[in-house]
Amino acid sequence: MNAKIRSDFPVTAERIYLDTAYDGPYPTPVIQAGKDFLERRGRGLAGHVDDWLVVADEVKALLGRLLNATPQEIAITTNTTEGTNIIANSLGLGPGDSVVWDDLDFPSNAAVWFNLARRRGIENRIVHSVDGGVPLEDFERLIDGSTRLVTVSHVSHTNGYVHDLEALAELAHSHGAYLHVDAIQAVGAIKVDVRKMGVDFLTAGTYKWLLGPIGLAFLYVRDELIPMLEPVYAGWRQVMTWPDELPVRPPLLHADARRFEEATLHFQGLYEVRAALEYIQAIGMDRIEPQVLRLSSRVWNGVEDLGFHLNTPPGTTSGIVTCVLSDVERTAQALQEDDVVVTFRAGNQLRVSPHFFNTEDEVDSLLQVLSTVG
Ligand SMILES: Cc1ncc(COP(=O)(O)O)c(C=O)c1O
Repeated sequence: MNAKIRSDFPVTAERIYLDTAYDGPYPTPVIQAGKDFLERRGRGLAGHVDDWLVVADEVKALLGRLLNATPQEIAITTNTTEGTNIIANSLGLGPGDSVVWDDLDFPSNAAVWFNLARRRGIENRIVHSVDGGVPLEDFERLIDGSTRLVTVSHVSHTNGYVHDLEALAELAHSHGAYLHVDAIQAVGAIKVDVRKMGVDFLTAGTYKWLLGPIGLAFLYVRDELIPMLEPVYAGWRQVMTWPDELPVRPPLLHADARRFEEATLHFQGLYEVRAALEYIQAIGMDRIEPQVLRLSSRVWNGVEDLGFHLNTPPGTTSGIVTCVLSDVERTAQALQEDDVVVTFRAGNQLRVSPHFFNTEDEVDSLLQVLSTVG
């Protein structure tokens, strides 16, 4: 990556930040967008809700371009899990319906499906991973005519495993089921094309690989499915006209994904995520993805050469690599001394997640520290 990009990320001057799977650090244009809004707000010049909704539309247009979706298919939400809850609770699932997912998924998603089992009596069918991956045949075995939804994390937070969404969509659809995807560990790191991949529903927060604010996410719903979903929450944002008076008749809901946005959005965050998406678009996923994969495979190969056990299967094409450490405390201390930022996870695991602003030299510095702790 070029010097300009490096200098856009203040973090690169202070530390070796290899932890975007946890939190993506802001580049300067995003910091500036947030500061500008706060400054205007402090002076009573933040604008009107109509101005903020224009920013929301611009964000949806940018997301649409990134995902190959239309802006009308995108709702702004608070977090990834909210999008999953919206889908889970709007599909009208109940006794006799099954939902199929796997053990590489994020705990919050499991909580949603168990909640649905408790409240609505659905059946959860969980596919067990093998050697860090989830073979399609194992999904196939658990999917049948009762299955209404297959749901996965596109990229697993635990080991970076990348699900084959195209194959899963085909499989789900052949049984009359839908495919729901948690893509927070994918969007902004690797290419995601909802049309090509046949995804029906997709949810992702913006604060990791999209370099956006914490507490702002989005939900994609394939256009033909929008009318079929019955929103659980209600509010002014989802109705066709914003009534000045208390409505005495049921209001008409928007025909597009706005019907899933019940009220005030994280408008400050929308200014920041607009800047982040513009920044990512200017560089382009054609440049970002290869750089992420170049760096993550450098991590994978280096860690393997050092003899650590890898939880990430070989050939994984995401920004996440995890391995098992023999001495977590010593490693954590050594990395901290060298200002290297990574995530430590249960089971003595180290998770490394380089983004496009990182360099080969930074990866080599990490590997150098790891070589000293054994
Ligand atoms: C796969 C995955 N899903 C979801 C989340 C976070 O979810 P939320 O945005 O709902 O807090 C994370 C956070 O690490 C994650 O890795």
